[in-house]
Amino acid sequence: AHRPRVLSGIQPTADSFHLGNYLGAVRNWVAMQETHDAFYCVVDLHAITMGHDPIALRNRTRISAAQLLALGLDPERCTLFVQSHVPEHAQLGWVLSCITGFGEAGRMVQFKDKSAKAADTTTVGLFTYPILQAADILLYQADQVPVGEDQRQHLELTRDLAQRFNTRFGPTFTMPAPYILRDTAKITDLQDPTAKMSKSASSPNGIIELLEEPARSAKKIKSAVTDTGREILYDEENKPGVSNLLTIYAALTLRTIDELLEHYDGKGYGDLKKDLADVVVEFVRPVQERTRAYLEDPGYLDKVLAIGADKARAVASATLATAYQNVGF
Ligand code: ADP
Ligand code: NA
Repeated sequence: AHRPRVLSGIQPTADSFHLGNYLGAVRNWVAMQETHDAFYCVVDLHAITMGHDPIALRNRTRISAAQLLALGLDPERCTLFVQSHVPEHAQLGWVLSCITGFGEAGRMVQFKDKSAKAADTTTVGLFTYPILQAADILLYQADQVPVGEDQRQHLELTRDLAQRFNTRFGPTFTMPAPYILRDTAKITDLQDPTAKMSKSASSPNGIIELLEEPARSAKKIKSAVTDTGREILYDEENKPGVSNLLTIYAALTLRTIDELLEHYDGKGYGDLKKDLADVVVEFVRPVQERTRAYLEDPGYLDKVLAIGADKARAVASATLATAYQNVGF
């Protein structure tokens, strides 16, 4: 049967993924291997828009790939590759930038936010990054793109560019649809439970890094900010800290929130935190072991990424050839 094609990427901008990356994104990637023709990339081209260190970038790209494998991506079931290994991304990105209005690009809210926060280091690359992202998606003729709220506007731009190109130069790109993930969990900062857990925004104690010392994660869970009440209830508005812990717990154990509420009826926050700390430790330990094993076998990792790049290029180069032909090259 025909499986819808899906494309998604993750930036290698940290030494470890965090629990939000896993529960909000990678976990779904693993599931979509079974239902989709899935292309997943470590988007290193996107990781240089704000200044970077070359050695750290190269390491983080490999660590990201190793973590994706450790978390369950199977190179037999999906196409896993590194964006810079497929030069067609940058090539199509240029063509698309030439059909994007300057004002149109300037309306991207994420650029406005990020550039306002770091005016000194803002680059043209940060400004045009949504156009490169459009190229990432359109090169693979993706039917669907999983998107969180923060990426919605960028997917709209991608759709506008696909439509514009197809109208001007002839049918070239598949129109990608947003794929709304069903079981996606939004994980919040353990110290500031109204903010999202984020590698850039969270304090070190607010974020659970998959590759940190498990005892450290346990400690962070145990000192997570809750509230002065005592009852374990799921109430995002009034009990965001407790609700976040329940969300993480449910997602990692595949239990429902209701089951957890029943189980913790009459118990205290301390019990919940202690048990969740154990759950997190149990989850990360094997992930860390597998990640380490992949990193200790660079030959295997290189081979997986080379095969992934070949599979990706087969699709990307065909699309780029059509786009170049249609545009008059
Ligand atoms: P960060 O926000 O930490 O910089 P990225 O922007 O690299 O993370 O996000 C990579 C993926 O992880 C995206 O699909 C994003 O939606 C998801 N993600 C990031 N943080 C969270 C979170 N706190 N809860 C759920 N999903 C998240
Ligand atoms: Na983000």
